[in-house]
Amino acid sequence: MSLLSVEGLTVSAGTTALVSNVSLSIAPGERVGLIGESGSGKSLTALTITGLLPRTIVATGSITLEGTQVIGAPERTLKGLRGRVTAMIFQEPLTALDPLMRLGRQIEEPLRRRFRREGLDPAGIRTAMLALMERVALPQPERIATAYPYEVSGGQRQRVAIAMAVACRPALLIADEPTTALDVTTQAEILKLLDSLVREDGMALLFISHDLPVVAKVVDRLIVLRHGIVVEQGHVRDVLGAPRHDYTQTLVAAARAFDRALDGAP
Ligand SMILES: Nc1ncnc2c1ncn2[C@@H]1O[C@H](COP(=O)(O)OP(=O)(O)OP(=O)(O)O)[C@@H](O)[C@H]1O
Ligand SMILES: [Mg+2]
Repeated sequence: MSLLSVEGLTVSAGTTALVSNVSLSIAPGERVGLIGESGSGKSLTALTITGLLPRTIVATGSITLEGTQVIGAPERTLKGLRGRVTAMIFQEPLTALDPLMRLGRQIEEPLRRRFRREGLDPAGIRTAMLALMERVALPQPERIATAYPYEVSGGQRQRVAIAMAVACRPALLIADEPTTALDVTTQAEILKLLDSLVREDGMALLFISHDLPVVAKVVDRLIVLRHGIVVEQGHVRDVLGAPRHDYTQTLVAAARAFDRALDGAP
């Protein structure tokens, strides 16, 4: 059975369709890239899956997560899915962080939810928090735990957001341009981290990006979105080797040209 199954998804603002008739599915443990230019509907698709669409936007069609219908579901159902079934990482880690709360406490929140049933005491939660910080390779965990978001670097903030997202071991991790706001070196480190976390926990991954070379590094399958419509889907190797749609051909050619320019650089 699919972990995520999207069928005939249309997302509209008033009479304007922003995403049209999108269908896709993700199996447990599978890594899928959603790629497309700015405004193609990638984030709206992700927000619909996690039930986080703004009220002014209407979604129709069907989205099931582990068999549970998301579209039209009450907030209670959506809350039950968040964290355990899906978790999301955003481009700008500050989106996920409370500016006025120490980072350690923020990481403890999802852990408290996860371990509620076991009745883990505060010391146990703290130990789990420090272990999670170590897992996402945050340096000086003791210091960072007591720091506020503005007191650490952008890359460290993204590591904290990733720690919070994986705290409840979601079945599907959705990463919406998680490295776009970071410098190239940090970007590579964060990609490596996501890659190993997904591998270790057997999580499925929906990786959203406009950057084909970045996506191709971390996923098995690609879905290409253009103006809210899926124009191509397939295994990374097939899509890169023999892109069918004009738009995908342009993307692949641009990525190749970029690679060549790098190779030729002194
Ligand atoms: N709340 C909203 N109300 C009306 N239109 C919206 C809203 N949010 C997004 N849109 C529009 O929907 C379209 C798709 O937006 P979306 O954010 O999904 O694009 P994206 O593919 O994630 O782009 P980017 O790569 O820039 O993040 C855009 O034309 C955008 O302007
Ligand atoms: Mg977006």
